[in-house]
Amino acid sequence: MTRPTIQTVAVVGTGVIGRSWIRVFARAGCETRAYDPDPAQLEFALAWARESAEEDEALGFIDAGTAVREAGAVHRCGTVGDALAGAGWVQESGPEALDIKKGIYADLDAAADAGTILASSTSAQDMTRIAEGLAGARRCIVAHPVNPPHVVPVVEVLPGGETDAEVVALTLAFMKSVGQSPVEMNHYLPGFLLNRLQAALIREAIFLYETGAASADAIDTVVREGLGLRWALLGPFGSGHTNADGGVGDYYRRYNDAYRELWADLEADPEFSDRVINGIRDETEAMYGADATAALCAWRDRMVRRIRALKDKDAPPGG
Ligand SMILES: NC(=O)c1ccc[n+]([C@@H]2O[C@H](COP(=O)([O-])OP(=O)(O)OC[C@H]3O[C@@H](n4cnc5c(N)ncnc54)[C@H](O)[C@@H]3O)[C@@H](O)[C@H]2O)c1
Repeated sequence: MTRPTIQTVAVVGTGVIGRSWIRVFARAGCETRAYDPDPAQLEFALAWARESAEEDEALGFIDAGTAVREAGAVHRCGTVGDALAGAGWVQESGPEALDIKKGIYADLDAAADAGTILASSTSAQDMTRIAEGLAGARRCIVAHPVNPPHVVPVVEVLPGGETDAEVVALTLAFMKSVGQSPVEMNHYLPGFLLNRLQAALIREAIFLYETGAASADAIDTVVREGLGLRWALLGPFGSGHTNADGGVGDYYRRYNDAYRELWADLEADPEFSDRVINGIRDETEAMYGADATAALCAWRDRMVRRIRALKDKDAPPGG
């Protein structure tokens, strides 16, 4: 990892996402100020960050001594003003509602130094609307992570209507410098990139289940043991590039009619009723266990790190 391009950051809102951002920034060596209006939530987040770093060190995911260094980089702040003093980057991770985000942004814009970038973790809001009417709208930007960002590196970067091009460039550079994989989206669309792609696949999975085409187990297995194995290495276009000897152009031309016919068949919206949800729940619990959530998340996070380490060791040819 390179040296962070911004040295001092504030994480505002330390719930599920904020606490994981604390790890991203502290691990990279940033002085990391943490603030949450709920003191109990802040205490929980700081304890979680410390324990999570210790676990990572025990599992060999971070070098010996890093957990102590990480803990030393994190500072508990009692007010937004304390968190923002001298911070060059703010990662807003408060509740997901436009009116709340607008309120938080008004406070951040008033308290932050002129050059500070105000980045939001929002999964759904348009920065044009969050920053509407703010004097500092030019330094406001979306940096949307995937849960949990200290494990999954992609960050969707989207400017608002008034965001400076320079702020976009600084955001991409900073995210890379703390070990994330930023992607730039040129304009707002609901769901950004990741959730639109995910929603398209989930819609079809639900449709296949509720029409009785296959069991939940069969549908999960097709992704887990099929599509997903390739998709951890190559995206839809990269996979297409390997599906015909002439590469993706050859593949898409050859299968052009086949895809058009399939797309025409995909138009139905599933019913997504309680009956269907209960059926999926029962079959999913049979596959992965009824009380497996915490253990399954921990296993998922360990395995994602191992896959990433393997990819680092054996990078794709030509890329
Ligand atoms: N959970 C996810 O999977 C996920 C993934 C990507 C992005 N996000 C986005 O990250 C943001 C946070 O989501 P989360 O899941 O961590 O929510 P959360 O409910 O776990 O945490 C929100 C935190 O914000 C705090 N808060 C409340 N009012 C605040 C205020 N005025 N100023 C600052 N903090 C305040 C709360 O005390 C809480 O600790 C949301 O915008 C969400 O869309 C969530």
